[in-house]
Amino acid sequence: MQSAPPGVIFDLDGVLTDTAELHYQCWQALADELGLPFDRQANEALRGLSREESLAKFLGPRAAEFSEQQKLELARRKNEDYLRRVAGLTPADLAPGAAELLSELRRRGARLAVASASRNAAAVIDRLGIGPLLDVLVDGNEVERSKPDPQVFLRAAERLALPPRRCVVVEDAASGVDAALAAGMRVVGLGPPERVGRAHCVKPRLAELSADELLALLDG
Ligand code: G6P
Ligand code: MG
Repeated sequence: MQSAPPGVIFDLDGVLTDTAELHYQCWQALADELGLPFDRQANEALRGLSREESLAKFLGPRAAEFSEQQKLELARRKNEDYLRRVAGLTPADLAPGAAELLSELRRRGARLAVASASRNAAAVIDRLGIGPLLDVLVDGNEVERSKPDPQVFLRAAERLALPPRRCVVVEDAASGVDAALAAGMRVVGLGPPERVGRAHCVKPRLAELSADELLALLDG
């Protein structure tokens, strides 16, 4: 019996594009306004978390000073700022090697998905111009449980019509690596081993990952 085609599921922010930096700039601006301690290192802890979880972590012990209404307003303003920055993205903001990798994987018959915690993923993909290369998008608007819960990846596999064991995930967040492992998928972690070391394969950046290496993870 012929096995199912391979599926490759990409996280978006910090994998196909460096929107992790845009998220950081928004949180930093808010931190400066509120007089909260924040820096790039603190931002690392927000990678892969939903907007609300990020806000809770961002406010830390000061969360108690804000009413639910005020917290909603902070999240809304952070997102408004983020969308302003997203509007400035162009295909030149794709991670180096991303367009070539997606095209090569398609050429080899892989089915491709993006699975992201972001509720702005469709806007980012649109600005980057990679919509036509993808078969499926599952974003934060259609899952109830965020990573490290496997729901977003299982939903992507389902929509690709593939079993989880035929899917490999590319992630930059610790919570995302854990979610992919919990989904029973192979995982490539992008970034420092302290962050993504639990993945089956670790690369510093997407440009150093080939279609061969990705697909070989599904062999055997
Ligand atoms: C991604 C990013 C997170 C971000 C989350 C929600 O997972 O890595 O930093 O908080 O998406 O994004 P959103 O665009 O919905 O605020
Ligand atoms: Mg990410």
